[in-house]
Amino acid sequence: MSASTPSIDVGDIFPDPYSIPLDQICMNQSRLFQNNVHGEYFRRLRNEDPVHYCAESEVGPFWSITKFDDIVKIDSNHKQFSSEPSIGIGNQAADFTTPMFIAMDPPKHDVQRKAATPGVAPARLADLEGLIRERAGKILDDLPAGEEFNWVDRVSIELTTQMLATLFDFPFEDRHLLTKWSDVTTNVDMFVSEEKIQERRTILRECLTYFTRLWHERANQPPKFDFISLMAHNPDTKDMIDNPMELLGNLILLIVGGNDTTRNSISAGIVGLNQNPQEYDKLLADPTLIPNMVSEIIRWQTPLAYMRRTAKEDVEFQGKLIKKGDKVVMWYVSGNRDETKIENADALLIDRARARQHMSFGFGIHRCMGNRLAEMQLRIVWEEIMKRFKHVEVVGDPVRLRSSFVRGITELPVRVHDI
Ligand code: HEM
Repeated sequence: MSASTPSIDVGDIFPDPYSIPLDQICMNQSRLFQNNVHGEYFRRLRNEDPVHYCAESEVGPFWSITKFDDIVKIDSNHKQFSSEPSIGIGNQAADFTTPMFIAMDPPKHDVQRKAATPGVAPARLADLEGLIRERAGKILDDLPAGEEFNWVDRVSIELTTQMLATLFDFPFEDRHLLTKWSDVTTNVDMFVSEEKIQERRTILRECLTYFTRLWHERANQPPKFDFISLMAHNPDTKDMIDNPMELLGNLILLIVGGNDTTRNSISAGIVGLNQNPQEYDKLLADPTLIPNMVSEIIRWQTPLAYMRRTAKEDVEFQGKLIKKGDKVVMWYVSGNRDETKIENADALLIDRARARQHMSFGFGIHRCMGNRLAEMQLRIVWEEIMKRFKHVEVVGDPVRLRSSFVRGITELPVRVHDI
């Protein structure tokens, strides 16, 4: 940002969103999300300028789409709004590009997605359900009753990392590496200096080396349903091994896609039910609300705040001219709070009607591939929590991730109370 358009990011002090000129609101500021103060800025944009142009920011100009129906229109229109070259607001470094199918258009997107999909298809999920339940039960049984601990480390990370290891058939004893690779991908602190950038790349190259070995092993074994075996045996993806950066890109996609998002939904549920004790009472009275509650938590948290598209041609949209090449950011985190679409949208209501009609999983050809798996994991963890604990009590403030993309919780001090 230049001096003439002061950024709204002023450290940890945030101006009243109504006190600054509209054109100075640029929602790529990660501290707004870390401090959980983004909501009122989005409310203002939805009301006053729902298709909003930020002319100057650290990542260049971009459009913000903030209303539910507008986001659905853009997300469903891959012919005019491309996912290439990136689904993040920032630009990929030219000397370290990691192509992945979430950031590709048809036909390449379609064949790569199709190759990986059986890894999370309904038949596979049915096979995995017992294992997930057993693991969730073990993690919860090992929690120290009556003592304060970090729920994120002990439950959310552990459970989703174990799941991820299963999806890749990754050596179980090395599963902490998956957490490391996932975190290094999204952590903004890894971009603050040249040294950090290089450190991040070194760690990601380790990831590639590890998976390259697994790939060769799987390619020489009979096909199975883990992601690596599926891609190594599929005629459309088997040559990806010859394009290491594309292999790394897709690994990152599958690792982060299946990890951070579900992890943060598990933590968010604990936060949400503590902040809304009347909702917890509803759950105690009727545990069959769990599947509905899971969808509501995923809406309320919106684990991925946005996806970006790039206009392939000039498009007139809601009275604005989006020019060819412009970045267009679809803020799911705002659409999910759009009062014109969702009644009482800021509230967490575990018995909300039509709770699955949220936008946290996106729309169109890129709609989340793992959405049923995520819902299943969350349902199981809540069913197992309710069997064991009277209450998971939050005993300190949650610490949130500094990111405008992943809506994450990094620390959540809790105490569990046995039934
Ligand atoms: C609550 C948990 C989750 C949330 C909120 C979430 C959210 C999303 C979103 C917003 C997209 C992009 C949609 C679009 O562009 O329209 C996406 C795509 C994707 N997700 Fe998820 N996700 C979750 C869990 C998972 C899990 C468990 C997996 C399993 C590996 C997964 C794998 C993927 C993949 C591979 C894509 C790319 C799909 C494509 O480009 O065709 N996600 N997800």
